[in-house]
Amino acid sequence: MIALVGMPGSGKSTVGRHLSRLLGWRFADSDTEIERELGESIRTHFERYGEDSFREIESAVIASLAQQDALILATGGGAVLREANRKVLREHGHVVYLRATPEDLARRLRHDRQRPLLQGGDPLTKLRELFVARDPFYREVANFTIDTGRSTVPALVHLLAMQLELAGVVPPMPRGDEA
Ligand code: S3P
Repeated sequence: MIALVGMPGSGKSTVGRHLSRLLGWRFADSDTEIERELGESIRTHFERYGEDSFREIESAVIASLAQQDALILATGGGAVLREANRKVLREHGHVVYLRATPEDLARRLRHDRQRPLLQGGDPLTKLRELFVARDPFYREVANFTIDTGRSTVPALVHLLAMQLELAGVVPPMPRGDEA
């Protein structure tokens, strides 16, 4: 199992989907699984029951998904806050941190209306606060860190695949058909 962690907007789902196609592994997004279980959007759940309720469900979903082999798992940006989640991800998989600056994230998320933690107030200020609080956890849990900068998705996937290959996490891949 390979888990992708990082801030909202860092590209976990997009990069994860591409990587899963390249490796021929399954792909899962913990937020999508949570919304399926809840039968409502994460935003609605936050409004009705608050963040703690969401975090409980998130932990259960991550613990369950992490049992699967040959899986690329995109996690929610706040998944690393709980030590139990960090432990599960590390025990069952290799963890990749897609690192991005709050400025780049604010640019990518300027039209977002779905992420409850970024609604109301100035998104860049909020992203800076979240980054300061979370970057140490992302670093702590990660086996690999990829600086996303302004790279394209295919370039990031290529870089990540090479790192995973060099580390022996995935078998060597044929060249020339990345992403
Ligand atoms: C959250 C990020 C979201 C989602 C929820 C909480 C967070 O996932 O899990 O809205 O705490 O940063 P993304 O990282 O995919 O946006």
